[in-house]
This record gives sequence, C-alpha cells and structure tokens, in this order.
Amino acid sequence: MNNGFCIWLTGLSASGKTTIAQGLLRHFENNRHIEAMDGDEIRKGLSRDLGFSKEDRNEHNHRVIFCSKLLARNGVIVVVALISPYRETRAYAKEAISNMMEVFVKAPIDVCIERDPKGLYKRALAGEIKQFTGIDDPYEEPLNADLIVETHKETPEESVNKIIERAKAMGFL
Ligand code: ADX
Repeated sequence: MNNGFCIWLTGLSASGKTTIAQGLLRHFENNRHIEAMDGDEIRKGLSRDLGFSKEDRNEHNHRVIFCSKLLARNGVIVVVALISPYRETRAYAKEAISNMMEVFVKAPIDVCIERDPKGLYKRALAGEIKQFTGIDDPYEEPLNADLIVETHKETPEESVNKIIERAKAMGFL
C-alpha cells in the first residue's frame, strides 16, 4: 500500500486554497486514492452545526483533523483546505496526523478583497458579517510552514507543482 499523507492548506478566504486543492486532485486522481476536505463543503455536512467563533472553528478543525488522520494512515492523500486561522490548532494537526505538510497559501488581504468570489468580504466590510477572518477576526500566519505558495505571484499550476516537489523532498512521495 502507498503511504498516505496530508497536505494542509491554510490561508485567508479567497487566497486560492480550493483552486490548488482541485489541481492536486486532478494531478493524483488516476494513480492514487485522494480525498479533499474543503472548509465550505465540510461546513455543509460534518460541521453544519458550527459557526465562526474561536471555539467553533477549533471544533470544526479538530473534526477534520480526526478524519484526515484516519484517511492518511490508510494510504490516502488528504488535501485539507481550511482557513484554520490558529497556530495552535495547526500545530495540533501536525502532531495528530503522521506525515503532514503545512502549506501557507499566501495572498495579501487586499488581493483577497479584490477577488472576493463569494462577495463575503464586501459584506464583512459593510458590517453585515461579523467575525470575518482578516477583517475583524484574526488570522495567525504560519511561522514555520513547510512551504509557502504566493498565489498573487504564481499560477495555480506552479503552486501545485511546488507542493508536489516539497512532498517528494519530505519523503511523502
Ligand atoms: S475555519 O476558520 O473554520 O478554518 P473554513 O475554511 O472552514 O474556516 O471556512 C471558511 C469559509 O467560510 C470562507 O471561505 C467563507 O466562504 C465562509 N465564511 C462565512 N463566514 C465566515 C467568517 N466569519 N470568517 C471566515 N469565513 C467565513
């Protein structure tokens, strides 16, 4: 059986996590078992009872960590795409999931506000949504990410390739 591992994508809303996750899925779909755990999707199911307080985000992130641990130890490549704003929570993920790489999907907040694919930044800036990450809720940037991809400077394909190369360098592939 192939060794499973987890690619943990953390970053602001609209930083590019989902696009990169989809690129990774396309890259591996024909030759590996691969599963994506995307924040917006998980929040429609497993975490549908949770909101965006610190406690709820942590509970949501911990549920994803639990599932990722099970999948990764059974040979699956798990691609997590969560804002996961808290360093402590991400550090716990790294402890709990053997073979995890933390990838900081980095884009300046101004770029994310400009992209605003769901119109949520606009609503947050207008005060219609409270506790929005990067506006009136914290995002703790990784201090020791295994890799940083800068989505305002590189294409999604370039980011995907960098992640694959880093996974090889870490001995996951
Ligand atoms: S996390 O902080 O709990 O890890 P997660 O990635 O699951 O976040 O969900 C983030 C997505 O939820 C955003 O991309 C956005 O579509 C939506 N969202 C709705 N309200 C908020 C909010 N207050 N803060 C951040 N994202 C929000």
